[in-house]
Amino acid sequence: MLLQEQVPLAPRTTLGVGGAARWFAEVDTEDSLVEAVQLARERSLPLFVLGGGSNLVVADEGFPGLVVHIALRGVTQAEDRFSVAAGENWDEFVSCAVALNFGGVECLAGIPGTVGGTPVQNVGAYGQEVSATIEQVRVLDLNTLHFVDMPSPACEFAYRRSLFNSRERGRYVVTGVVYRLVQGAAPHLAYADLQRYFRGRGETATLGETAAAVREIRHGKGMLLVNGEPDCRSAGSFFKNPIVAQAIYDRIAAEAETPPPCYPDQPGFVKIPAAWLLEQAGFHKGFAMERAGISSRHTLAIINRGGATTREIVVLWDCIVARVEEKFRIRLQPEPVWVGPNRPGAAAA
Ligand code: EPU
Repeated sequence: MLLQEQVPLAPRTTLGVGGAARWFAEVDTEDSLVEAVQLARERSLPLFVLGGGSNLVVADEGFPGLVVHIALRGVTQAEDRFSVAAGENWDEFVSCAVALNFGGVECLAGIPGTVGGTPVQNVGAYGQEVSATIEQVRVLDLNTLHFVDMPSPACEFAYRRSLFNSRERGRYVVTGVVYRLVQGAAPHLAYADLQRYFRGRGETATLGETAAAVREIRHGKGMLLVNGEPDCRSAGSFFKNPIVAQAIYDRIAAEAETPPPCYPDQPGFVKIPAAWLLEQAGFHKGFAMERAGISSRHTLAIINRGGATTREIVVLWDCIVARVEEKFRIRLQPEPVWVGPNRPGAAAA
């Protein structure tokens, strides 16, 4: 394990802002991961585990401890089970599954990041969530320094949530995931965007065509990483879609010119698109505030317009949270993870 000092983190994230890691180590085996954790403990350093960097906001001050980059690689298949190391690129795994005619992750094509991040925030798009196909998650338990294979129900998956980013945040490091896919499955065409794309010929769509359609739709919304496209310097959706009681939805609908779209959730609750709330609060596509801004193709993506500091991103973030709260009495929750010392500003994550 090579220990490096003052390694800039911005180039390792899709948003491209923030300072350096005081210490940095890349680990490509489970043993070297344990070694890195022990080193952080010996030196009393805070630890941060970095995957693909697609869902992070790094503080301008950087991270004062040890950043461990998970570079574990390998995919093995046994019938319908795919054991994938945490450092594998997610989209490449989706392509591989689809090429082998296995369904279950085709709607999650084009999502940046690594496999290890997928169970943490229960990645989802177009009606699929990884929790539906994850059979088990292999983790290092930082309390015991033992590796554990956690079955899916123990991961407490919910919308953009799991045990790993909520109840036991910081306790486990994901080193691999076993996905159980379905050979020859029909593609999952539940969302309007996809149904529109195939315009009635959904029955004949293949898994490969569906993954390609998802990539094209994501590209149209600037949610596909294409090097050099400014709308892509983002952390994807910046806010979670709030899940609110039906009565709150009814109040918002009554106050609005046209009622917001909504998706049913648990009984008595609905999910409202955060993008709609932003637009109603005056934040439109292409909105700019210093070098931070909103994607010209999707309102929910805060972008680095070029050379932005994290402070500029935070000012826009706070401004959005404050105005949406003032207008709708809903407090938006950020989706990306904050990396660094305490986040400045009022709307701390
Ligand atoms: N909308 C707007 N303006 C926009 C975009 C969307 O008002 O610029 C409203 C529209 O009413 C639209 C609705 O929001 O019908 C939903 O939009 P979209 O289908 O683009 O999805 P989203 O709710 O904004 C979620 C996920 C995305 C995922 C898409 C597709 C969250 C926080 N985001 O976005 O995930 O790709 O659905 O299923 O749940 C991510 O998590 O980083 C992410 C990109």
